[in-house]
Amino acid sequence: MNTIDTQVLAADEVGLSLAADILGRGGLVAFPTETVYGLGADARDDVAVAKIFAAKGRPNFNPLIVHVATIEAARELCDFPDCAEILARRFWPGSLTLVLPIKERARISPLVTAGLSTLAIRVPSSPIAIKLLEEFGGPIAAPSANLSGTISPTTADHVVQGMGELVDAVVDGGHCTVGLESTIVGCNSRPALLRPGGVPAEVIEAVIGAPLASASVEINAPGQLQSHYAPEGLVRMNVKVPLADEVYVGFGPTPNAKYNLSANGDMTEAAANLFDILHRLNDIGAKKIAFAPVPSVGIGVAINDRLRRASAPRPL
Ligand code: TXA
Ligand code: MG
Repeated sequence: MNTIDTQVLAADEVGLSLAADILGRGGLVAFPTETVYGLGADARDDVAVAKIFAAKGRPNFNPLIVHVATIEAARELCDFPDCAEILARRFWPGSLTLVLPIKERARISPLVTAGLSTLAIRVPSSPIAIKLLEEFGGPIAAPSANLSGTISPTTADHVVQGMGELVDAVVDGGHCTVGLESTIVGCNSRPALLRPGGVPAEVIEAVIGAPLASASVEINAPGQLQSHYAPEGLVRMNVKVPLADEVYVGFGPTPNAKYNLSANGDMTEAAANLFDILHRLNDIGAKKIAFAPVPSVGIGVAINDRLRRASAPRPL
């Protein structure tokens, strides 16, 4: 682990002002959001955004999410069809990303959108993320602050361990409260669920009064689908009886489990613990891992989505 050059900043006035300075000079700052830690750069600065792709080892055709402090700031960058208006009002600030038509005058680097005519955008609810956005005074492009294909970070320490000297600074805001990435909804034509996440699809459907079409953001990004969010060990999911050589991760009362997503079966707690447990499994060098079944309702859909990717076949 090489952590010598990583500057860990406190999430206070001094730390956030330093973080905003680094962003302003085209640097990379990892910062907490309520979902996961983001790897932030000035979304208007081509060189800074290019550094995100280089640091993550991320394919250039996989576009990034832009974070802004307010719905008004989002309006400067995107058009808001009716459904987006309703969703933004109801779920922002929060763990919902909207994919919207980008305005011609938005000065967002084309690297952020990978040349698409749409922009993925959200207003995070983490007060630290909001303070940083206010201090910086502009849009911050930020994918999750991990190497492409590895487990997303939910603590500053995960970022330091995973990306170390590849970032200029990490703002330490403790544990992310949601612990899974934002739900992505496309509002270009008919509202479509592009990625399950922190806000359950049912809740969104109840607000728009119609089912979400299903689509996948991964269509444009082959290779992202398989073994994403993967720990080093092999993962099986929906396991009621683990094999003798598997480290077992329970959900609800699971007497023989080494770790438990939530001992009392609380889905929100399970979501918040998932990535941290995957990181711990790496730390102990677990070779074979079995996850107990998690019901596919509410945020459980997003938990199972991440587990499915973690257990997908690995590229050779
Ligand atoms: O919770 C989150 O969303 C975190 C935090 C840091 O905000 N960010 C995050 O970013 O998960 P990332 O880069 O790991 O995931 C962004 C996803 C990708 O799957 C990408 O393909 C999709 O958003 N995306 C971005 N722009 C898009 C667009 N214009 N159309 C369709 N999908 C898009
Ligand atoms: Mg990610």
